[in-house]
Amino acid sequence: MRAPVKTRRTFLNVTLAAMTSILMPGRLVASETLAPTPELTRGPFYPPAPTGLPLLRARAFVPQPLTNDLTKTTAQRRAQGRQIYVSGTVTDTVGRPLIGARVEIWSVNAKNIYLVEDGGASDPGFAGFGMTVTNDEGRYTFRTIRPEGYDRYLGLIRRTAHIHFLVQVNGARTFSTEMWFADEPRNRIDSFFKRVTNRRIRARMAVELRPVDGIDHAQFDIVLAPEFAGRAV
Ligand SMILES: [Fe+2]
Repeated sequence: MRAPVKTRRTFLNVTLAAMTSILMPGRLVASETLAPTPELTRGPFYPPAPTGLPLLRARAFVPQPLTNDLTKTTAQRRAQGRQIYVSGTVTDTVGRPLIGARVEIWSVNAKNIYLVEDGGASDPGFAGFGMTVTNDEGRYTFRTIRPEGYDRYLGLIRRTAHIHFLVQVNGARTFSTEMWFADEPRNRIDSFFKRVTNRRIRARMAVELRPVDGIDHAQFDIVLAPEFAGRAV
């Protein structure tokens, strides 16, 4: 079990806290419960230790520094592609915020390549992996790019556009899932997307992008079942 790592606080935490508070859902009353976000595999492209299907040239490493802004790197280069903000809350099934939860994301870069596949060579400006910790309202924020879908293994795997998430609440099982995009045509051919048949849950996972000050913003709220939230309902 990894202890939460204190993330570097960037300007994003300040500016987006105000911006995203507009989008924050209303608090639940005591009698309501939320369906937990479905758990999905972290897949073979998780940066610190590639797992799953065998990968030629796969590299295992943790990018440094750990930050919630994936659109720039220590080389002071900027990521290619369309920048987006992704933020949301991490709560239990009765809507109580989970404070201090470690949240990680990773996705392909603008060339459709994961960090573990080429070590960032195809876009040195894209961090490929990010980490933050939820604040006192259970809220997290990232700046990244909108990824596209990809095919791997001679078309055996055909994926829609997605961002992988991993959430770690101290003392609880590690949770992984994905965020999708509502307007993505490849959703209908994606086996993970099709597996989520509940319309309300699917709508929560396939986000709509809303422009704020010229940059698209996605809200992705994560609801953790008790085994992942580390506490009973
Ligand atoms: Fe993926």
